[in-house]
Amino acid sequence: MINNKKKLRIGIVGLGRVATATHIPVLKLLEDVEITACAEKNKERIHRVKEFLNMQNVFDDYKEMYKSKLVDAVYICVPTHIHHDATISALQSGLHVLCEKPMGRTVEEAVEMSLLAKKNNLILMPGFKYRYNDNLQHAAQIISSGLLGNIIQVEATFMTPGPYISWDPKSEWYLEKKHGGVVYDIGVHIIETVNLLIPNKINHIYAYSSQGYHEYDTPTNVSCSFKMEGGITGNVIFGWRSSIDFTRVSVFGTGGAIVVGLKSFDYFNAGTDPKDRIYSHIRNSFTEAKTVTKRIFSIIKGSEVSINDLEQAKAFVNSIRDGSAPPVSGENAVNVHKVLRAIEDSIQTKKEITI
Ligand SMILES: NC(=O)c1ccc[n+]([C@@H]2O[C@H](COP(=O)([O-])OP(=O)(O)OC[C@H]3O[C@@H](n4cnc5c(N)ncnc54)[C@H](O)[C@@H]3O)[C@@H](O)[C@H]2O)c1
Repeated sequence: MINNKKKLRIGIVGLGRVATATHIPVLKLLEDVEITACAEKNKERIHRVKEFLNMQNVFDDYKEMYKSKLVDAVYICVPTHIHHDATISALQSGLHVLCEKPMGRTVEEAVEMSLLAKKNNLILMPGFKYRYNDNLQHAAQIISSGLLGNIIQVEATFMTPGPYISWDPKSEWYLEKKHGGVVYDIGVHIIETVNLLIPNKINHIYAYSSQGYHEYDTPTNVSCSFKMEGGITGNVIFGWRSSIDFTRVSVFGTGGAIVVGLKSFDYFNAGTDPKDRIYSHIRNSFTEAKTVTKRIFSIIKGSEVSINDLEQAKAFVNSIRDGSAPPVSGENAVNVHKVLRAIEDSIQTKKEITI
């Protein structure tokens, strides 16, 4: 546990897009935290960030930063195939870790990371920022309360323009096979969101894919059908190359339905009683109003970046300070990885995969 009177000293590994546009501005909003060091191997980025962060302690090797005794915890923001090494070394050095998604590149890597954190009594939190989205949390509460009755079917969508198009500077590593392509960039978010809403494990999956960037040997768009424990069936589509960012999950139960997105929420009560309908309208407006208020507040505070990342940072810091379990754990990441591997296997074998 960290002395509560002292500021928590955080180090950032990888000073690319997500670190500089999201995590650093977010961490600067937390009064009990300071960014005391960074590690980055690209000299140009080091130069740029040194000026903008006014940061003297910038290492070109993250292991040197871990040894420096300048940090208590680290954010891992490097390309995906480095997540495992950067996290394992940090945990071996006694540092708490927030590892950007996906937490490692394979099931085995995620298991090793998760076990080591437990063994060394350190916090390891995967960067599953949508866990902290109000609408998704509210939907998860309604579903677990039984208000939707028995869940029958799910439909989930997560589309983005893709890192190659929207990112600046361009990070072509996203498209290389060793990083897992869209399955590990976007699939990870929507499978984690489905897991948050419905805890039943996905145990059968069949996936189709298409390849939109023909010079790269990695899928860009994926559609899957799946079955969960308890007989729930579902479809999930995710991909790059969309003209818009779009996230939506529809959950249908015997007692009602929810259609939820990052900024939208609809709850449909099965009751025919007009009172039930009025009640669900009030509930929907309340959830929308809460999201809008939080958003306005974040704009005023100058952190339009993302309320989800702010809540994620607070959760990480709180877990380190009071030693409590983080809201999302290494085991959650392992479960997501099992589904991602099944998606990859199904694309490759053109067969249904049992998990
Ligand atoms: N949670 C989210 O919604 C979200 C959003 C964006 C990115 N991410 C994740 O964050 C990670 C980084 O993504 P990004 O878009 O910022 O990538 P990026 O390419 O913009 O940045 C990666 C940085 O890491 C540096 N780097 C590479 N190898 C290094 C090493 N060995 N030591 C130190 N630095 C090294 C690169 O030079 C670069 O500056 C990825 O895993 C990605 O999946 C998550």
